[in-house]
Amino acid sequence: MSLLYAIALNCVFVTSQIMAEENGVVSYAGFQVWKIKPSSEGDQQFILDIIDSYELELWSKRRMARDPMDVKVPPRSQTKLKSKLAERKISYVVVISDLQTAIDNQKTKVNRIISNWKPAYDMDWISYHTLNDIYAFLTYLNTTYPKLVQLTNIGSSYEKRPLYVLRISNSSSAGTRPAIWIDGGIHAREWISPAVATYIIQQLVEVPANAKLLSNVDWYIMPVVNPDGYEYTHTKDRMWRKTRSVSSTSSCRGADPNRNFGYKWGGLGASTNPCDDTYRGTTAFSEPETLATSNFIMGKSSQIKLYLTLHSYGQFGLLPYGYDVVYPSDYNDVLALVNNAASRFVNYRYTVGNTAALLYAASGGSADWAKSIGIKYSYTFELPDRGTNAFTLPASEILPVCQDFFPALDVFATKVATCCGAVNSTTTVKPLTTARQLLDDQQPNLDPRPQLRNVLT
Ligand SMILES: *[C@@H]1O[C@H](CO)[C@@H](O)[C@H](O)[C@H]1NC(C)=O
Ligand SMILES: *[C@@H]1O[C@H](CO)[C@@H](O)[C@H](O)[C@H]1NC(C)=O
Ligand SMILES: [Zn+2]
Repeated sequence: MSLLYAIALNCVFVTSQIMAEENGVVSYAGFQVWKIKPSSEGDQQFILDIIDSYELELWSKRRMARDPMDVKVPPRSQTKLKSKLAERKISYVVVISDLQTAIDNQKTKVNRIISNWKPAYDMDWISYHTLNDIYAFLTYLNTTYPKLVQLTNIGSSYEKRPLYVLRISNSSSAGTRPAIWIDGGIHAREWISPAVATYIIQQLVEVPANAKLLSNVDWYIMPVVNPDGYEYTHTKDRMWRKTRSVSSTSSCRGADPNRNFGYKWGGLGASTNPCDDTYRGTTAFSEPETLATSNFIMGKSSQIKLYLTLHSYGQFGLLPYGYDVVYPSDYNDVLALVNNAASRFVNYRYTVGNTAALLYAASGGSADWAKSIGIKYSYTFELPDRGTNAFTLPASEILPVCQDFFPALDVFATKVATCCGAVNSTTTVKPLTTARQLLDDQQPNLDPRPQLRNVLT
């Protein structure tokens, strides 16, 4: 009897959870995003405590106490939060008054400026695209430009989707020149990231005026590192961030790929709780997506001289290390190059600096790992905006963001062509030498200091 009763209770619980969704799609109706402005360290801690006790989601925060904090606030907490902030006279603005409306608005089609432009693929940069569209585009390029591009399936995601890297090279000896790696879509909900990565691909492959960018360097571009998560944001939950792997200890799914790379894995800013959005995973490279990506990069590590990973949001150019406020010995060189690149931006200003110093400590990030294997120039870009639209950047901004960003690649390509010594083309990866085996520290890097609640861009 009691067992049946327990099962019945369980059903009630499950049913009520499902009813919060519509056709299995998570609704954010009534959710808001507030930009809260602490004016002291005390205020900042006060807000962090509220976020913890009300289980709110902190979307952006910077290390400095007086920088604004973006917080996602569900309907049930809005009145309470308002009066709490009033108690301490902390000001805030509601930047997104209904998150579901912002999500719906992202799907609005913008009219094509050039109405007779009919490309051979279902891809453009005036709307956001599904994984199918993006993969069809890559396949189209592979078929259409066999001398210029090579599409490689470097492995499978947890849900068995292919992981694609596109190499772009006009050299007859591709694979032996200095190269730039660019990835996007590590975090599922950061839709502007695959959009910019695919724009870069289109410009490099199809626009003759950009041929000089291919004259001395090869490009490896992986527009969607986390295809399962990306697909999930299109079909079920627009605000999903992680992979979709199933946990053996929890009903919560997925790990944060950008806390799952094998350098200082498990340190500051990475959660051990599978239900958290910054969950580090069971081990370094536990996720097939980060493992395949790192193995591929490792195999080309003598060729790849610059690692660039695209995230959103905040408009930052971030430099290693991120696991803590630590500066590599060549930090000034790495900084000078990104400053030079950022000087090409016209419409969107990016703040540049060390990841942990500027934002917060986050260990297990891909850019730290790339730096650790000897890729001198390693950057994380947080694409626009600064929080007005956050992850729901309107489709009308895709093209402006892409066009503003692209000229920076010229600066990177020029540097990489000459910076870092010859490519050792005879390097071959021994079959057993995987990224996982080359970890410097598999073990969690326990740090006794108290951690701030993890932040999520
Ligand atoms: C890309 O094209 C080449 C040459 O036609 C082919 O061998 C390869 O399998 C294609 N890649 C993918 C992932 O389909
Ligand atoms: C690659 O592009 C550069 C710059 O346009 C050009 O000088 C070079 O000849 C090209 N190489 C090949 C093999 O097409
Ligand atoms: Zn991100």
